[in-house]
Amino acid sequence: MTQAQLQLKDIRKVYGKGDAAFEALKGINLAVEKNEYIAITGRSGSGKSTLMHIMGCLDTPTSGSYYLDGEDVSQMSDNALAKIRNKKIGFVFQAFNLLPHLNLMEQVMVPMYYAGITGATARKRAMDALDKVGLSAKWHRLMTQISGGEMQRVAIARAIVMEPSLLLADEPTGNLDTATSYQILDIFDDLHRSGSTIVMVTHEMDVAARAQRIVYIKDGLVEREETHA
Ligand SMILES: Nc1ncnc2c1ncn2[C@@H]1O[C@H](COP(=O)(O)OP(=O)(O)OP(=O)(O)O)[C@@H](O)[C@H]1O
Ligand SMILES: [Mg+2]
Repeated sequence: MTQAQLQLKDIRKVYGKGDAAFEALKGINLAVEKNEYIAITGRSGSGKSTLMHIMGCLDTPTSGSYYLDGEDVSQMSDNALAKIRNKKIGFVFQAFNLLPHLNLMEQVMVPMYYAGITGATARKRAMDALDKVGLSAKWHRLMTQISGGEMQRVAIARAIVMEPSLLLADEPTGNLDTATSYQILDIFDDLHRSGSTIVMVTHEMDVAARAQRIVYIKDGLVEREETHA
């Protein structure tokens, strides 16, 4: 049996303590193969974002094991997790770390800066990524000078600029009109074709249908899965 890229076993997450404790994830078992494209869906509060934060090494589970590319990341230090995030994972999370004082090009250059890629190379790659999301003409704008949908596209440009082996997207089309949503989903298709693994949370069924597999989460558990041809 080949090793899945993401292997989650009996993942539990408890928020808070004592009387206020709340178990958001109650034993998630999920494997995602390399270059798979999956959608996660479920009601509000079912635990999707909690699960995405754990998959993205932004948070650790209360118990259970999580292997990413064969490495147990469930109990790693914050420093080690930060390195893994920068090297392998692209995030498209709502309002995740967009810095208001940077222009679009600088914004997209941030992950490259952390990876030691700077200067003309970084600027060219940033412009290429902005071009893919249709924003290269506005590269000099600040975050305060663009719309919510445009911010979302900047977040996508920033997520793909490092060509991550794993792309995690939490409601990537949530604030977008249909045409822009499809444009974003086409970018995801391109990334998928070039080898990336994609995990996307969405509550829109036509968006979920673009993935190869749909995982339904209910009350902190995988309720069922559907695989497409
Ligand atoms: N930091 C926190 N402290 C306490 N409870 C939390 C915290 N974060 C989330 N929760 C609770 O955990 C549950 C799962 O939250 P989560 O954000 O994962 O849901 P979700 O499926 O992403 O919902 P939505 O579709 O609304 O984004 C919810 O009941 C939420 O209230
Ligand atoms: Mg959520």
